[in-house]
Amino acid sequence: MQILFCSNPIDRRKPDPIYEAEAEAAAKLNFTTSLINFEALVDEDDPLKAVNGVQKPTAADERAAGNAIYRGWMLTPDNYSKLYGALNSSGIHLINDPQSYKHCHYLPEWIYILKDRTPKTVCISKEELDQGGKSEMTASPKLDDVLKEKLAQFDANPVIIKDYVKSEKHHWLDACFIPDASDHTKALEVISRFLQLRGSALEGGLVIRQFIQFQTLTTHSKSAMPLTKEFRLFVLDGKIIHWFNYWEEGDYQQLQPPIDEFSEIAKLPRSRFFTMDIALTVTGQWLVIELGDAQVSGLPENTLPIDFYQALPKTSC
Ligand SMILES: Nc1ncnc2c1ncn2[C@@H]1O[C@H](COP(=O)(O)OP(=O)(O)O)[C@@H](O)[C@H]1O
Ligand SMILES: [Mg+2]
Repeated sequence: MQILFCSNPIDRRKPDPIYEAEAEAAAKLNFTTSLINFEALVDEDDPLKAVNGVQKPTAADERAAGNAIYRGWMLTPDNYSKLYGALNSSGIHLINDPQSYKHCHYLPEWIYILKDRTPKTVCISKEELDQGGKSEMTASPKLDDVLKEKLAQFDANPVIIKDYVKSEKHHWLDACFIPDASDHTKALEVISRFLQLRGSALEGGLVIRQFIQFQTLTTHSKSAMPLTKEFRLFVLDGKIIHWFNYWEEGDYQQLQPPIDEFSEIAKLPRSRFFTMDIALTVTGQWLVIELGDAQVSGLPENTLPIDFYQALPKTSC
């Protein structure tokens, strides 16, 4: 199996500095590695140029080398499809097809599958936001009405907001956390700030989720957001193959994720390779915070990439 890393924009022969340690670990374990020109894909819309440096499989190692895992920056579903197509035309098959990528990348795609194990969630598509006049957010009574109707589903409970992929968690108080969903002035202020910060990078639409009291870890040293004892599980072909503490700071006090409890749940998403972030509530229930495509999920800086690559099979993917 081949691992495809994003290349360094300054020196295309090297991996991007962010993926250097991973590329080294993968090579050490004898994975074939190649480089993808991310900028050619995303900025120049030239997928063939992006995959130009990828090693083509030979007949002898077709099965092993013809299957690949991308390890790089997040891609929109559209750009992932282009990358997937360009690689396919060279005989290289990414582990997740475009539908599977979108399934774990976009929250509304997976939420119904895990609805009993994840906080209550309401999604508002970009189209709905645009119809309400998103670009004129503060001066749009129509959008306010749409949002009020969605917020009403949470009564006076606290909620958090994000788009289909990312939150503005490091702007916790201004653009992520709404202490009381029935306080419309405050809620619209936080949503407005969130939409402003995401700008044209907003993915898919807006998501409102019931805020859950998770067991606290510490507060983030830079953004002061409250951190919870969250874990990232990596799932390959329905099996949890590896996990990390989600946060690099704070003392997890030897708490470990309940792998057995999640082994059946891990079989539900329609993806061969994904991450599942889970956390423990104050009442002792483990809930899923989000799923992600494992190809674009980061490894925490304080962990050893070699442990992750050791968990990946070399040939059977
Ligand atoms: N429903 C929730 N209740 C309480 N805290 C939450 C909830 N959802 C997310 N969080 C907290 O906010 C952080 C960011 O949310 P997440 O959905 O993971 O967004 P991102 O994709 O930006 O990481 C999580 O790591 C968790 O600490
Ligand atoms: Mg997260």
